[in-house]
Amino acid sequence: MALDGKAARIGILISGRGSNMIALADAAGDGRIPNAEIAAVISDQPNAAGLSKAKERGIETLVIERRGRARAEHDREIVAALKAREVDLVCLAGYMRVLSREFLDGYRGRILNIHPSLLPSFPGLDAQRQALEQGAKETGCTVHFVDKTLDGGPIIAQRVVPVYEGDTVESLSARVLVEEHKLYAEAVSLVLKSLVAR
Ligand code: GRF
Repeated sequence: MALDGKAARIGILISGRGSNMIALADAAGDGRIPNAEIAAVISDQPNAAGLSKAKERGIETLVIERRGRARAEHDREIVAALKAREVDLVCLAGYMRVLSREFLDGYRGRILNIHPSLLPSFPGLDAQRQALEQGAKETGCTVHFVDKTLDGGPIIAQRVVPVYEGDTVESLSARVLVEEHKLYAEAVSLVLKSLVAR
């Protein structure tokens, strides 16, 4: 499914702070991600700090909570909301849930995630802590396609970040985050280019 010259509509899923979401919105706004707009930001957490930041930028926000439902049912509601807004590409940005098959089938090959390590090293939670505990001299960040594995889908782009003596989880996370914000915009641009060319 090519984009046929129309602006790509990006849907972003968050659960918290939303700094990567803002980085994508800024990059779409200033042309670093060409011919793209943020169609909606969806959070599964009503108190996610990113929601107000998105609203301030005039982006439509939705809260779709799990409310004890099966994962597939929750995901069906999210996919329906994305489809209703004609979203072409889904970006997970600190979205703290594993996607069901229903979600993956709804947006096959069109779901991206950002992870704060050089995958396949340090998947899962607390990637920066894992890097420090393993004594890694370098870590970084990865943007990858989402599949049914945990942080294991095909890699699109990575950036290396040095680990310094005396680094804490906080200092290392902050250094990685600066690179995440640049990398995510670059990776989304690359993927959109390939969708246009298809
Ligand atoms: C980022 O470190 C991202 O790589 C990870 O969760 C964090 C989300 O931060 N998946 P933010 O909500 O984008 O500020």
